Amino acid sequence: MRLSRYFLPVLKETPAEAQIASHRLMLRAGMIKQAGAGIYSWLPLGYRVLKKIERIVHEEQQRAGHHPVLMPTLQTAELWRESGRYDAYGPEMLRIRDRHDRDMLYGPTNEEMITDIFRSHVASYKDLPLTLYHIQWKFRDEVRPRFGVMRGREFLMKDGYNFDLTKEDALHAYNRHLVSYLRTYERMGLQAIPMRADSGPIGGDDTHEFLVLAETGESEVFYDSEITDLRFGEREIDYDDRAQCEAVMAEFTSRYARTDETHDEALFAEVPEARRRSARGIEVGQIFYFGTKYSEPMGATVQGPDGKPVPVHMGSHGIGVSRLVGALIEANHDDKGIVWPEGVTPFHVGLVNLKTGDGDADAACQKIYDQLTACGLEVLYDDRDERAGAKFATMDLIGLPWRVTVGPRGLKNGVVELTSRRTGDSEEIAPDALTDRLCEIYAPHHAHVGRPMPEPMGKRSFHTWI
Ligand SMILES: Nc1ncnc2c1ncn2[C@@H]1O[C@H](COP(=O)(O)OP(=O)(O)OP(=O)(O)O)[C@@H](O)[C@H]1O
Ligand SMILES: [Mg+2]
Repeated sequence: MRLSRYFLPVLKETPAEAQIASHRLMLRAGMIKQAGAGIYSWLPLGYRVLKKIERIVHEEQQRAGHHPVLMPTLQTAELWRESGRYDAYGPEMLRIRDRHDRDMLYGPTNEEMITDIFRSHVASYKDLPLTLYHIQWKFRDEVRPRFGVMRGREFLMKDGYNFDLTKEDALHAYNRHLVSYLRTYERMGLQAIPMRADSGPIGGDDTHEFLVLAETGESEVFYDSEITDLRFGEREIDYDDRAQCEAVMAEFTSRYARTDETHDEALFAEVPEARRRSARGIEVGQIFYFGTKYSEPMGATVQGPDGKPVPVHMGSHGIGVSRLVGALIEANHDDKGIVWPEGVTPFHVGLVNLKTGDGDADAACQKIYDQLTACGLEVLYDDRDERAGAKFATMDLIGLPWRVTVGPRGLKNGVVELTSRRTGDSEEIAPDALTDRLCEIYAPHHAHVGRPMPEPMGKRSFHTWI
């Protein structure tokens, strides 16, 4: 992408309405534009990050054996009356009436709708286990929408729902989701810690929230500091293997880690004092097991092995896709701007031409651009006729992890400069060596490790969306 042809409306001024870094930087970097209270348009740069996050979520869900679907944003009130939540949900639900005076709502979540799909099509225990998920916009009329996309009213969520014959099966689905979430956040370069939480209007007893530690987080959390040393890493996992999933669950949830809603001073006191921490955190996901809370009132039963109908055991599992864009910036920025982790960066490489209009510099940039693009790297090429300082400031603000700087002086010596946004370190490198070097940097973030992905999700889809 050539910057001269791109739509990147960066702001010079710091927007006064933004209270936290991620909101400020998203506005300044031209990623979003507010459309109404808690409602945002996604501009090209922001949209690219959102899609990168979505893609990681899709890949990790499908790796765990979960099937993507897409349910509508608008729902009928009838289904919610069946579960009893139409009245119970309260003012956060945006209620709408259509021209025939039918009660509708903009979905804040989809337990009812997915249960309706399930009961219409699944009749036998032989068709279980089943997990369906989608990534769709939600609306919750939050009292205080704030912090940009972190607490919006309209926001993008991945929500998945498991259907199982027994409680044990459903708890395996719960553990499987926990493992897949650990992988998902790590691929984004984020540490999100599972913590025991409260289930709120979704219901049920078993629930964990995933929290990213950050001073600006809205949740108060208490934990044993040992938990921050845990990494899922590159280990292989067989999602059908109950013992394996359970072992990961035990490893990541046996130490004390709770949000304020479930915090227990007496239990916390058992953690050695030097390891006791209290901090703020951003909730980026939550998993629930709620048994037959929806299947019983809504008649979602299957015929069991003995021929008798049994209500299915369910759980639901959410990831805050749009909130993650903000959370990632909270965890990755400095005073010059954003510092994207390699896994979610909107472009892999920023290419800066120090002397646009100089024949040699233009030709070298074009060649580098073509070489990098040909091997699947996404390049944002600053070909504008601007001062070097302005070009660097834009690149620093939008936070691409790697910058290639090309100028006549370096070219005379046969080199260009490769700079890490995170460390600020630069190295001189021959233009022809750039492709290998950058492919090596990005391969771990885009190769599909673990269970082979079904086509077309192999290597070939490196730069296409799902
Ligand atoms: N208003 C919002 N704006 C952006 N993301 C949200 C919002 N509400 C929830 N999310 C994201 O969706 C995920 C799943 O939704 P869930 O029902 O667990 O939300 P929640 O517990 O009500 O969130 P919160 O406690 O932050 O209001 C959350 O973990 C969070 O990341
Ligand atoms: Mg939650």
